[in-house]
Amino acid sequence: MKRKRTERIVFENVEVLDAGAKGVSVAKAPDGKVIFIPNVVPGDVVDIQTVKKRKAYYEGLAIKIHSYSKNRIEPVCQHFGACGGCKWQNMSYEQQLFYKNQEVQNNLKRIGKIELPEFEPILGSEKTLFYRNKMEFSFSNARWLTPEEIASGDEIGKENALGFHIPKMWDKILDIQKCHLQQDPSNAIRNEIRTFANANNLSFFNPREQEGLLRTLMIRTSSIGEIMVMIQFFYDNQEERELLMDHLAVTFPEITSLQYVVNGKANDTIYDQDVVLYKGRDYILEEMEGLKFSINAKSFYQTNSDQAYELYKITRDYAELTGNELVFDLYTGTGTIAQFVSKKAKKVVGVEAIPEAIADAKINAERNGITNCDFFVGDMKNVFNDEFIATHGHPDVIITDPPRDGMHKDVVDMLLKVAPKRIVYVSCNSATQARDLALLDTKYKVTKVRPVDMFPQTHHVENVVQLELK
Ligand SMILES: C[S@@+](CC[C@H](N)C(=O)[O-])C[C@H]1O[C@@H](n2cnc3c(N)ncnc32)[C@H](O)[C@@H]1O
Repeated sequence: MKRKRTERIVFENVEVLDAGAKGVSVAKAPDGKVIFIPNVVPGDVVDIQTVKKRKAYYEGLAIKIHSYSKNRIEPVCQHFGACGGCKWQNMSYEQQLFYKNQEVQNNLKRIGKIELPEFEPILGSEKTLFYRNKMEFSFSNARWLTPEEIASGDEIGKENALGFHIPKMWDKILDIQKCHLQQDPSNAIRNEIRTFANANNLSFFNPREQEGLLRTLMIRTSSIGEIMVMIQFFYDNQEERELLMDHLAVTFPEITSLQYVVNGKANDTIYDQDVVLYKGRDYILEEMEGLKFSINAKSFYQTNSDQAYELYKITRDYAELTGNELVFDLYTGTGTIAQFVSKKAKKVVGVEAIPEAIADAKINAERNGITNCDFFVGDMKNVFNDEFIATHGHPDVIITDPPRDGMHKDVVDMLLKVAPKRIVYVSCNSATQARDLALLDTKYKVTKVRPVDMFPQTHHVENVVQLELK
C-alpha cells in the first residue's frame, strides 16, 4: 500500500471480486473495506487508486491491470468507458446474466427477508446489441473532451456535441458517432442532424447559460419499421426550425412521425409540454402477437420490444388465467399488458397516470378489436381505492408494473385490503420490489420468481414475481 502526495491511496494487485449494483465492480482493500471500481470485470487483478474515501467504503479507479479476467471481452463500442450507457460491454453476456440474477436474489433475500421459492432461470435477451427502440440524445455546445484529447495539448475550441450525458455530469455531453443500442437509421439520423446543424450554424444548447436552439433529440423505432423523430428546441425560431425539420423530412423519407417541442423551461422533460406534429402521424405502431400498439412521443413503451414479448408471456403465464377472471393491470402505460392478457380474462381494468398513454390504450384496444378492457387515468394512490373496487368489481388477479420507485405504501395497503387471490409483480428495480414484497408478506407468499434481461450491456434487470394468498 503506497500513499501518494494527493492523499489518494493506491492499492496494488487487488483482485476484483464481484459486480455490484449500478454497474460498478467490487474489490476488498487490505483494511477490509469495500472498493467500488468502474470499468473492470470480476477476476481482473488491478492496481486501484482511490478517488473517494468514506467510512465504510472507497471509490476507486483501476490505474493498472496486471491480469485480465477470463470473463472479459473486447467492448464493441468506440465510446465504451467515457459513455455511461453500456457499463458491462467488457463482460461476457453469460457473466452479465449471472450478476443480474445475483442482484435480484440478493435484493429479495436481504431487503425482502421473505421466504422465496427457487428462482426460475434468468431469461437472457436474444439480441444483445441494437435492442432498444427508444433513444434520447442531448445537444451541447461544450463537448466533453476525453483525457486523451486534453493530454494531446492540441488547441481545442468549444465544439458542439450531440450524444449522451457523461455520468454524474449534468452539463457535459459526449459526442456519439455510433451507438450500438438502437437499430439503423438511428445513428444516421443523429449524425446527419449534427452535421446539418453545424453547417447551418444552428446553435446547440448550453445548460449552464440556458441558451442555444437545439436541446434534445428522441428517436423511436418499432419492429415493423416505423420511426419517430422528435426534436426539442429551447426557443422558437421558425426559419431555423423549418430548415432543420424540412431537411430531415427530405433526407429520411422513411420517418413515420416527425415532431418537435419548444421548451423554454429550465429542465428538458417534455411531459408537461405540447408536442407538435410536423410531418406524418403523431404516433408509431408496434406489433406484438398480432396486436398493434400505437406509441406517441410521451408514452411509455418497454424499450426492448422483442424481450417485452417474452416478459409479457411470463407475466401472462404467472397470472394463470382461465377466462373467468377480473384482472387489474396497475401502471398499465399504453395498456399493453392489459390487452396482451385480455384473451384469457373475462375483463381487464388498466390504470395509469399519464392521460396520453391512456388515450393510446383506448385507441389500441379499439384498433385490436378488444372489448373487454377498460382504462382509467390517475395517480395510483388516489385512484385505486374502495370506490374504485365498488365501481369496477373485486379483482381475482392483479398485475402490477410500477416505475423504479416501486409502489406507494397506500397502493400496497390497498392490495392487502383487496386481497386478490394472485398478484403478478413486474419490476425494473428489484430493491423496491423487495421492499414491497416484504410489506405484502403478511398475506402473500412468493410462489414464482423469474428475472428477465431487457437491457444487455447494462446492470439493469427486470423481475417477475408471482404471489399467492397465504
Ligand atoms: C414500468 S412502466 C409500465 C408500463 C406498462 N405496464 C408496460 O409494460 O408498458 C410504469 C408506468 O407507470 C406509470 N406511473 C408512474 N407513476 C404512476 C402513478 N403514481 N400512478 C399511476 N401510474 C404511474 C408510468 O407512467 C408508466 O407508464
